Amino acid sequence: MGAFSSLGSVTTTEIVQILTTTSALLTANLLRLSITRQVFARALIQSECLWTFSKSCCNQDKDMAALRHFKIGDGRIIPGIGFGTGTALYQQDAANSLVKAISVGYRHLDTAQMYQNESSVGKGIKASGVDRSQLFITTKVSQNVGQQTEQTFDRQLADLELDHVDLYLIHTPILEGTTVEETWKALESIQKKGKAKSIGVSNFRVSDLKRLEGLTRPAVNQIEFHPYVWKKAQPLYHYCRENNIALQAYGPLSPLVHFKNGPLDPVLKKIAERHQATEGQVLMAWTIAKGVIPVTTSNKEERMKELLKEIELSEEEQKEIEQVGSQTHHRKWMDHMDSE
Ligand SMILES: NC(=O)c1ccc[n+]([C@@H]2O[C@H](COP(=O)([O-])OP(=O)(O)OC[C@H]3O[C@@H](n4cnc5c(N)ncnc54)[C@H](OP(=O)(O)O)[C@@H]3O)[C@@H](O)[C@H]2O)c1
Repeated sequence: MGAFSSLGSVTTTEIVQILTTTSALLTANLLRLSITRQVFARALIQSECLWTFSKSCCNQDKDMAALRHFKIGDGRIIPGIGFGTGTALYQQDAANSLVKAISVGYRHLDTAQMYQNESSVGKGIKASGVDRSQLFITTKVSQNVGQQTEQTFDRQLADLELDHVDLYLIHTPILEGTTVEETWKALESIQKKGKAKSIGVSNFRVSDLKRLEGLTRPAVNQIEFHPYVWKKAQPLYHYCRENNIALQAYGPLSPLVHFKNGPLDPVLKKIAERHQATEGQVLMAWTIAKGVIPVTTSNKEERMKELLKEIELSEEEQKEIEQVGSQTHHRKWMDHMDSE
C-alpha cells in the first residue's frame, strides 16, 4: 500500500473515485459480474490490495500506464507521480512534451504562473486527447497576489483553457505587497467556488505553515526534496506528517542532475545494479518510500517511461541513502528554506 495509505486509511468513496476514472475495462467486468463499485471497493479495502489491483487493471487498459495513487491532506487522490513544466520547460512551449508525457501514462501535471507557459500547457492538455476527468492538474501563483489573487487565478484558468484545476498552490511564502494569510484566504474562496478542488502551498517552512493554523489546512506542501536536503528537512517533514499535509518532492533527481560526484553516487549505482534499475529509479523509489509524491520532468520519452516504472527499496537501502545523503547539504532552489 506504501505511499497511498501514508496519510490515513483509504475509504470506499476514494476507491470508487479511482475505479470511476481509471479503467473502462474494469467497469465492463464489474457490470458483467453484477458487482457494484461500492461492493468491490469494500472488498479491496479488506484485502488491502489496492495498489496491486490498480497496477494490474491499468496494465490491461492500453491508454494507461500502471499508476500508483497518492492521497493528499484533504483526502483527495492524485493519480501517479507528477510531470512538471518548470525547470527544463521554464518559459518554453510545453505542449509537445506534455502530449508525449500524457501518451506514456502521466496523469498528474504540474505547472505555475512563474513558468510563463500555462497557455502551452493548456494546448498540450487539449492535444493529448485524454479526457479532462482523468487528469490531475496543478498550478501555482506567485505574483499579483493578495486581493488580486482571484483575478490572477481566473487569468491562469483562461490560459490553461480549463474550468477548474485540481490543486492550486501559493508558490512561495515570500510575496510582494501582501501577506501569506491574505493570499490564503483568496485560495479558500477559489476552492469554495469549486474552481480549485484542493489548495496548498509550496516552499513553506514550518514557521510559514504555522501562520495558516486555524484556517483551511493546506492539502500539500511542494518542496525541494532529495537525500541531500533530507537532514535539514527533518523538522518540516515531521510537521507536515503530523499535521496531515502531504509533501510533494520537486527536484527528486537533483543528486544526479545538479550535484553529481557527491558521496551518494556510488551508493545509488550499487543499489541500481542490485535492482537492475537506473539511479533515477532508485531516487524515485526512495522519495515514494518516504511517503512523498515526486514531481519530475524529462524531454526524453525513454526517461519518461523509465521513471514511471517503480522499484522497491529495502529498509537498509533507504537508511544507507539517508545516512550518506546526510553527509552533505545541497539545495538548488529557494534559499529561504534553509532558514527558520
Ligand atoms: N515549487 C517549486 O518551487 C518548484 C521548483 C522546481 C521545480 N518544480 C516542479 O518540479 C518539476 C520537476 O523539477 P526538476 O526538473 O527539478 O525534477 P528532477 O526530476 O529532479 O529533474 C528532472 C531533470 O533531470 C534530468 N535528468 C534525469 N535523469 C538524469 C540523469 N541520470 N542525468 C542527468 N540528468 C538527468 C532530466 O533531463 P532529461 O530531459 O535529459 O531527461 C530533467 O531535466 C518542474 O518541472 C516543476 O514543475 C517546482
